[in-house]
Amino acid sequence: MKLKKLTLKNFRNYKSFEYEFKNNKTLIIGKNAQGKTNILEAIYYLCALDSSRIRKDSELIYFGEDLTKITGLTEKNGMELELDITINPPKNKILKVNGIKKTKSKDFLQILSGVSFSTNDLLLLRGEPQDRRKWLDLAIYQVYPLYFEKLSKFNKIRLQKANFLSNYQINYDMLDVFNKQLAVTSANVIYLRKKYLIELEKIAKIKHRLMAGNEELSIKYKTITDENLSVVELNDLIYQKLEEIKEEEIKKGQCLIGAHRDDVDFYINDIDSKKYASQGQQRTIVLALKLAELQIIKDKIGQTPLLLLDDVLAELDNIRQNYLLDTIEDDIQMIITSVDTLAFDDDFLKNVDILKIKDGQIAQDN
Ligand SMILES: Nc1ncnc2c1ncn2[C@@H]1O[C@H](COP(=O)(O)OP(=O)(O)OP(=O)(O)O)[C@@H](O)[C@H]1O
Ligand SMILES: [Mg+2]
Repeated sequence: MKLKKLTLKNFRNYKSFEYEFKNNKTLIIGKNAQGKTNILEAIYYLCALDSSRIRKDSELIYFGEDLTKITGLTEKNGMELELDITINPPKNKILKVNGIKKTKSKDFLQILSGVSFSTNDLLLLRGEPQDRRKWLDLAIYQVYPLYFEKLSKFNKIRLQKANFLSNYQINYDMLDVFNKQLAVTSANVIYLRKKYLIELEKIAKIKHRLMAGNEELSIKYKTITDENLSVVELNDLIYQKLEEIKEEEIKKGQCLIGAHRDDVDFYINDIDSKKYASQGQQRTIVLALKLAELQIIKDKIGQTPLLLLDDVLAELDNIRQNYLLDTIEDDIQMIITSVDTLAFDDDFLKNVDILKIKDGQIAQDN
């Protein structure tokens, strides 16, 4: 699959932007804070309807404006499709495919797929549980399109329950209604996260072994139970625990159990990598995860996703950089950002289109 053209209106620091991707490989060059990452973010938003950098969609809108528009002309199976997103909070965002409005996100996701890899991802193991949950959620949106709605439902109930718990007077019947809903929505989310991680682990283990020799990577979803339960069993277990701790939740005024409390653990030869792995070992893990993400999309969708590399090539040493560039096939569309061309060899530069960015615009000397 390909992204052939990107058009932005009032997106981050772009008042307006239009660019045709003519080459399979595009290198976006610009000094710091000019808008390189913003372009990758817009492209990724077309793929996953979310961004790892935001908490709210409104952050994507040019300061002081009301709405932003992202439009992408894509090609999948030889067919051109125009994807169009309008974000205009507090209204719901409007999704269109070839001008036709789609009310369900699942009808929009999977037309364009992408894997994004940034210097921030290299810090995934050092980051907070919420960073790892966001990474996981974004990856899952693209392969289980129903997950987007399941997670939105869970988040909505959780916020409503948190709001309810902060009330002075608690109505126990009402709390029970919330707990039932939270148990079922949480179970749906946890089940799919676990399922995805089992698939990811299988592939990441192999990729990791190729880079790290005899080191064995394993990944574990840290949640309410270590057992592999069905959705119904998870639902029952969560509901039962919520019953047990309801007085504590009321006292603290917080939702103490649910998918929002979970984390992902990584191990090398059974040793906790978040605590003990070296920086290099952690980077190898993240690189293996990203390559596995890419493989899963390819296996599920039957097409190669876009690869969005944000500043990351310069950060990887030669061995990992070569491994990355050698393992991905030639026909993959790559969009890469960098402050300059120094990190790239001449052969690589011969085969890329260079897009220069300055202050939210395409630079004149392109
Ligand atoms: N909603 C917004 N409205 C207007 N400008 C914004 C908005 N969000 C971010 N910006 C601006 O966009 C600029 C460019 O951001 P971006 O992250 O794309 O830079 P970059 O070129 O990737 O820089 P670096 O090399 O440091 O990573 C920043 O200066 C930031 O202030
Ligand atoms: Mg950047």
